[in-house]
Amino acid sequence: MHSIEFGRHCRGLWLLDPDVVFLNNGSFGATPIEVLEVQHQWQYRFEREPIEFVGRHLHRELRNAAATMAAFLGARGEDLVFVENATTGVNAVLRSIAPLLKPGDELLTTSHVYNAVRQAMRYIAALTGARYVEVPLPFPIESATVVVESVREALSDRTRFALFDHITSPTGLVFPVEQLVALCKERGIWVMVDGAHAPGVLPLQLDQLGADWYTGNFHKWLFAPKGCAFLWTAPPWQSLMHPVVISHGYGSGYTAEFDFTGTKDWSAYLSAPAGLAFLEKLGADRVRNYNRELALGAQRVLSETIGIVPPAPADMIACLAAVPLPVDPADEAAAQQLHDWLFNRHRIEVPIFLHNGKLLLRTASQVYNEADQYHHLARVLAQWIADD
Ligand SMILES: Cc1ncc(COP(=O)(O)O)c(C=O)c1O
Repeated sequence: MHSIEFGRHCRGLWLLDPDVVFLNNGSFGATPIEVLEVQHQWQYRFEREPIEFVGRHLHRELRNAAATMAAFLGARGEDLVFVENATTGVNAVLRSIAPLLKPGDELLTTSHVYNAVRQAMRYIAALTGARYVEVPLPFPIESATVVVESVREALSDRTRFALFDHITSPTGLVFPVEQLVALCKERGIWVMVDGAHAPGVLPLQLDQLGADWYTGNFHKWLFAPKGCAFLWTAPPWQSLMHPVVISHGYGSGYTAEFDFTGTKDWSAYLSAPAGLAFLEKLGADRVRNYNRELALGAQRVLSETIGIVPPAPADMIACLAAVPLPVDPADEAAAQQLHDWLFNRHRIEVPIFLHNGKLLLRTASQVYNEADQYHHLARVLAQWIADD
């Protein structure tokens, strides 16, 4: 029995500015006040006796938190380590495999990749002589099959490593990662899934996915404090894995290396189970269904306003909805201008991305949002289109 009502009724559970129509849970997530309070308790515990905390408790507490989070993700605690964010998870994997790459090997992803991940892949390609390959994918997109078939065509004998988003950033699409992983594994290609937006949004069974690595954020959709993410590594790879920062644990094994990478504030990691408990209090399925309905509604009303058919099929939508805007020229300046107009004039916080020569507006839907907010955005957008 879940009694917390969604939409405006529960907004007071967050610190979000009540004067802002906040449609961008996607960028950083939003941490509930009660989870921040748990985080503060961890910080107090550390401050009260730092030597005792780090020396005698930290490792065990981190491993307990990892086990709790892993159980939710369909994984084993010993295969999961905390990292600050998905960017760090991707970088740790790329740096760990770099010594195995040869000039001419291909590192493959798609054109919907998150830009920081693109940059990390390009960096490792430059360092090793490997080639960075980006599979062009359309947007609007007709079906998930387009993703699978485009990737199938682009894989070659030289593809050594592939990375796929579980939910894409600029376009907000759920990719068929099960099929993409299978496609790579049939060919002996190492495969990583970037699930930055997935935990709390999509049901996950990491042990059954067949990927070599999976990284995901707990701070975006799982209500954890900022700087809380994980990296899951398939057991055969673990002895080769190293964190981005090498510290005392070097050579002591996967979890020992990642659990201590120098002094820092571990409170976000230790509060991940509180974020999960918050999700479970709301009801994980109930949250998923509510957010998906909101996202589909947002996609519908914004597409109508722009005068297009919805740019992605319903089975590729979970919590984000992107629509292409009728803007010419479409450039960074136009994106910034529209973002600022929406925020300064209408107090609507929503991201506008320049993607493949088009401006995309991407809404996010979290339980503190409600349908009225997307209708309001659509009315404001109609005014902007009419005035342009
Ligand atoms: C697909 C994808 N990967 C990686 C990231 C990076 O997340 P973080 O900033 O937490 O590292 C994002 C952030 O939006 C993303 O959407």
